[in-house]
Amino acid sequence: MSIADRVRNPALNTKIMSAEAAAELIPAGANVGMSGFTGAGYPKAVPQALARRIERLHAAGEAFRIGLWTGASTAPELDGALAKAHGIEMRLPYQSDPVVRQQINTGQMQYTDIHLSHVAQLAWFGFLGHLDVAVVEVAGILPDGRLIPSSSVGNNNTWLDQADKIILEVNTLQNPGLEGMHDIYYGTRLPPHRLPIPLTGPGDRIGETYLRCDPAKVIAVVHTHQPDRNSAFAAPDDTSQRIAGHIIEFLQHEVKRGRLPADLLPLQSGVGNIANAVLAGLNEGPFNNLTAYTEVLQDGMLDMLRSGKLSMASATALSFSPGALADFNANIDFYRQRIVLRPQEISNHPELVRRLGVIAMNAMIEADLYGNVNSTHVMGSNIMNGIGGSGDFARNAYLSFFMTPSVAKDGAISCIVPMVSHVDHTEHDVEVLVTEQGLADLRGLSPTQRARLIIEQCAHPDFRPALRDYFERSQRGASGRHTPHLLNEALSWHARYVETGHMLPDAGREKRLHLA
Ligand code: COA
Repeated sequence: MSIADRVRNPALNTKIMSAEAAAELIPAGANVGMSGFTGAGYPKAVPQALARRIERLHAAGEAFRIGLWTGASTAPELDGALAKAHGIEMRLPYQSDPVVRQQINTGQMQYTDIHLSHVAQLAWFGFLGHLDVAVVEVAGILPDGRLIPSSSVGNNNTWLDQADKIILEVNTLQNPGLEGMHDIYYGTRLPPHRLPIPLTGPGDRIGETYLRCDPAKVIAVVHTHQPDRNSAFAAPDDTSQRIAGHIIEFLQHEVKRGRLPADLLPLQSGVGNIANAVLAGLNEGPFNNLTAYTEVLQDGMLDMLRSGKLSMASATALSFSPGALADFNANIDFYRQRIVLRPQEISNHPELVRRLGVIAMNAMIEADLYGNVNSTHVMGSNIMNGIGGSGDFARNAYLSFFMTPSVAKDGAISCIVPMVSHVDHTEHDVEVLVTEQGLADLRGLSPTQRARLIIEQCAHPDFRPALRDYFERSQRGASGRHTPHLLNEALSWHARYVETGHMLPDAGREKRLHLA
């Protein structure tokens, strides 16, 4: 299919130009809203052309940086290229790029990490500043100027509405069969005029198939023919399989106790290898006729749709390995009946997550004795990725799981610590903690009851004695007995790791002696 088949609006046909020419139209200091969510549906040519332009300008001594707003993480051609050119002043709302991460953590780039469901409304409220340009990948343009969305929706409807000017990348490699898979809801009003969102099931269609776009705002149309990021997943290892096993056993138990229906409730699954292993476990497991109300569809959910275990999935983005993508493309008519792609404001909407009773399963960096969870920061100060949708789901879920291997960095770090070095999810939003060691059901427990369970069920045996010792001494020495902490010691594990390379004092000393 040629570009002419994909750009069916005559006026926009005349706007077709090179990525270089389009990049020239973005002014210095602009806030630019780009498409892209978990490596899907991001613009592939204009950001790289802009990065080359910025490098030339910087070499000539001219300052040029932009504010970069997206749906979520993108790919090296977008985040990586613009960061390498030192072209990003402010990044929001989520990233996972190594160059961006390094620049944020060295103070060269500003970053505001935002709940993904909040971004659109913050833009509408005007809280983020003015949006100058939207750069959005689409699968095609209809004769009347409406857009066939690509492999993610993210915040595209908001960027197209809010930006003064629009640059469209039409990617002819995106499957034309994506047409009809999306559901773009335009019913959101600003307070005090908000109305309930009329969605009562994961498969409901409440909006429009296409993105609205004012052709008069379109300043460039750029042709691309490039794949999404499409990273492969590692095969589930022993640790992630054990985590998956604990969760599935727990869900079976909940069904037996009458606290969950036999076909469960809509599933939300974070991204990454552990999440994929949980989905693989569910695909082999005893539950049928499942549904998903989630943010990203990755390989595990596609397998479940194909096997029939999953009957319907709602998300805002598709993030597949090359193998899964080939299957998706070959069977797109089958998948279009079973997948709905929505704006992230709707896929992650707290009201809908609460109404549907979603089962949320997200990975974390560390949890503390009382159930507070850190999803974003390493050693309290360094951002890893961002909160993403984990808060949207965890806070409002019917059941909220957080999972991690019990140790990181070859056992030098315990992922169960006395006090988390950064808090993303407080004890009030965390119901079940899971490591390969076991599962701690924290529902209805007091902080001290939680601490005992988390140490015995989730902590790695190498760290249990030190955690027990801290907890016991806290109960004797803290100023209060409700959530006992020794304040001058609570973060000493992290400080010790930063200093010695191990969280335990003796292990650190041994390591130092060994190094000497
Ligand atoms: N302390 C320090 N580093 C730690 C750590 C800890 N407690 N736990 C993990 N790490 C390191 C790992 O060693 C690894 O480092 P490396 O990249 O140098 O190898 C890195 O963090 C990632 O860990 P990994 O075990 O591979 O986990 P992951 O890829 O599943 O990612 C999160 C885990 C928490 C970083 C990731 O899930 C995330 O960004 N979550 C927040 C957003 C979210 O939940 N999104 C889904 C909502 S829909």
